[in-house]
Amino acid sequence: MDKVIIFDTTLRDGEQGAGGALNIGEKLEIARQLEKLGVDVIEAGFPISSPGDFEAVSLIAKEVRQTSICGLAHAEPKAVDRAWEAVQGAADPRIHVFISASDIHLLFQLKKSREEILEMCRSNVARARKYLSNVEFSPMDATRSDPQFIFQIVQAAIEAGAATVNIPDTVGYSTPAEFGNLIEGLFKSVPNIHKAVVSVHCHNDLGLAVANSLEALRRGARQVEGTINGIGERAGNASLEEIIMAIKTRHESFKLETSVHTDQIYPTSRLVSELTGFPVQPNKAIVGANAFRHESGIHQDGVLKAPITYEIMDPRDIGLPSSSLVLGKLSGRHAFKERLAELGYSLSQDAFDHSFASFKELADKKKEVTDKDIEALVAQELRTASEAYHLEQVQVCCGDQSVPTATVRLRGPNGESLADAALGTGPVDAVYKAINRIVGVPNRLIEFTVSSVTEGIDAIGGVLIRIESNSVVYTGRGASTDIIVASARAYMNALNRLLAARGKKN
Ligand code: KIV
Ligand code: ZN
Repeated sequence: MDKVIIFDTTLRDGEQGAGGALNIGEKLEIARQLEKLGVDVIEAGFPISSPGDFEAVSLIAKEVRQTSICGLAHAEPKAVDRAWEAVQGAADPRIHVFISASDIHLLFQLKKSREEILEMCRSNVARARKYLSNVEFSPMDATRSDPQFIFQIVQAAIEAGAATVNIPDTVGYSTPAEFGNLIEGLFKSVPNIHKAVVSVHCHNDLGLAVANSLEALRRGARQVEGTINGIGERAGNASLEEIIMAIKTRHESFKLETSVHTDQIYPTSRLVSELTGFPVQPNKAIVGANAFRHESGIHQDGVLKAPITYEIMDPRDIGLPSSSLVLGKLSGRHAFKERLAELGYSLSQDAFDHSFASFKELADKKKEVTDKDIEALVAQELRTASEAYHLEQVQVCCGDQSVPTATVRLRGPNGESLADAALGTGPVDAVYKAINRIVGVPNRLIEFTVSSVTEGIDAIGGVLIRIESNSVVYTGRGASTDIIVASARAYMNALNRLLAARGKKN
């Protein structure tokens, strides 16, 4: 009863966040890391929503064996059947059926009565239950619904066979006291509640998602849903890493346990940030760059004397790598592999070979290769591994007396070599125009940010861009010691996401 089931929805609700679309290879990569992190359930997608989502859920179900794999379905027979088709290959499959429960949604969106909603809940939970026993049910917008109706629909779902009942704060409206009362109300008012696990799913519109989730656990919920780095629709979902570390750090208060290997939190956060293109804000709890940094003299003095003075968690508990000097140009494959393992990466042979080559190249240019450099180059490798178009060469000519000119060579989807050149208003503009001449996908650059991954004049530069096409935003990231190359890589990353999303749609 003290164990909390950790349900990760980074690949479903998290991916719904604007600009976060992942391709199938990236989803599998994240699912494998989540398995390593030790979450109990991975909600891998919404199979009926697109062929791409269906394919990703099916693949993850086959490949990730230590974790329960869940597919989402709205309360329609076709959606339930499609979810089953996608998850049936999993070692421990789950179907998650949901339907709106608030009068606001019933009146303005579904145009259905409460009786009709109850019937859709019953029949579709029962339909899922025919396929498997691991069925979850969610009444959407529960926190703006009549609590009596929530109790009624939860009771009906459990009668129909739901093993987990999840209470979503879909629009992040609730407060801890209110949400806690709703959860406690379930235990008091739903006669068959002991037959199911009570779960919670909180959004962060008022910045209360983690607080609401923790209060629900205090009142008896035993499954908590959320995403890594708190990514998701609008202001995002509850940050799983914050909930997990709160439970661990304040054990005397919560008296709860999870099965999570917390030293995998930091590598998981980095991977999700790199692949989705959503940077982690520096002051973000647990995984932000400043979360374990002490600036003021008094704090530094205290931490040097005894970390407990100003640190409530040991940074090693979340797998935070030290930023000390690690490798140099004389380091070999073995040392590089060991360092990667310490940082939480296990790469395929191909990805390892490419990363090692990039490391050697970097070590030639840079005196000191730190963990952050290694993370940046591995992330660059992971991004390019599944690209349809790959940047092979970029060259620019610019200066205050010349017209910026760029030549680029790409490898196309069938391995063909494609080269072109263009003039621009600046070197990056010229590079992007040359790439556009080859790839030919209309889009608009809406954001361009350059930052330094490490300190010093020889630092790796990171470029984050967002492009827009048909009102959809795609994020791209690139890293290199050359800022023009980093910009070109970021653009290729965003364009490849755009192409993958179109392929998925088609
Ligand atoms: O926020 C929400 O209500 C959801 C449901 C599908 C559980 O994501
Ligand atoms: Zn949600």
